[in-house]
Amino acid sequence: MIKLSVINQRGGAGKTTTTAVLARCLCDRGMRVLVVDADPQGSLAVILGLSPRAFLNDFLIERLAIRECVVSAKPGLDFICGNRLTTDAETKTIGLPGSEFLFRHLLVDHEKNYDVVLIDVAPSISLFQTCAMVYTQHVLVPVDMDILSVQGATSTIHACETLNRMLEHGLNIRPLGILPVKLNRRLAITELVLNTLTSISQRREIPIFTPIRTDQAVIRAAADRQFLADYDPKSKALEDYELLTEEILSRFRKTEAIPIDAKTA
Ligand SMILES: Nc1ncnc2c1ncn2[C@@H]1O[C@H](COP(=O)(O)OP(=O)(O)OP(=O)(O)O)[C@@H](O)[C@H]1O
Ligand SMILES: [Mg+2]
Repeated sequence: MIKLSVINQRGGAGKTTTTAVLARCLCDRGMRVLVVDADPQGSLAVILGLSPRAFLNDFLIERLAIRECVVSAKPGLDFICGNRLTTDAETKTIGLPGSEFLFRHLLVDHEKNYDVVLIDVAPSISLFQTCAMVYTQHVLVPVDMDILSVQGATSTIHACETLNRMLEHGLNIRPLGILPVKLNRRLAITELVLNTLTSISQRREIPIFTPIRTDQAVIRAAADRQFLADYDPKSKALEDYELLTEEILSRFRKTEAIPIDAKTA
């Protein structure tokens, strides 16, 4: 099974976009995908035009059945959406014993219904970010082409190490890889950021995935409330995300039991 949190402590690093496009790419390969939006901004529902009847707060705090909390974007692609009540849910959970294990506790029973769980988080250190890391154990770190985004990625990598140390419980939270996004080779900053990422990658032995190019189709698809795959199936960003999907599948095939027959591009 693939369980993956998409995290960078910095805002605007491409977390939500990556979660949405990757979820769709995995679904198009025949996998059953659950996406959890743990960000109170609720951006996934906005950019995909979803109309959920219930939210993450209802699942975590009101303990509504999962079938009442998911909204299906298409067959095999379910979302538990976030909204501002996610903040209330977090406040109610902080300080409870074992609160870091909340997602694990509530999602583990539903794993038989999914091949993939992806979690999008808010751009700051929060309890639900920790819950996401503890549950998925794997973290994908998108990095926008600016130096603050690199700093956000470094904080995320540190957070993995700190949680493993602090929580023990045999946790092995690890960055699956760094994903450069919004790549534009014509900008000088791009080379600077890529060089910095290369040195982080070498120092910490974290792979760098094939970058996602800047593409206006991403912004237009979001404005149109559509998946990129529906808005512009030939877009260069989608081409890059298809490659990322293959790379992720191959990484998980090496280490985890995922269906070998998941379709390849
Ligand atoms: N490849 C791309 N090309 C062009 N624009 C992009 C690309 N990827 C993301 N964007 C745009 O960058 C902005 C930030 O992306 P996104 O919302 O995915 O970041 P985020 O990390 O989730 O932000 P936040 O931290 O606020 O949750 C959005 O307007 C999105 O449409
Ligand atoms: Mg986001």
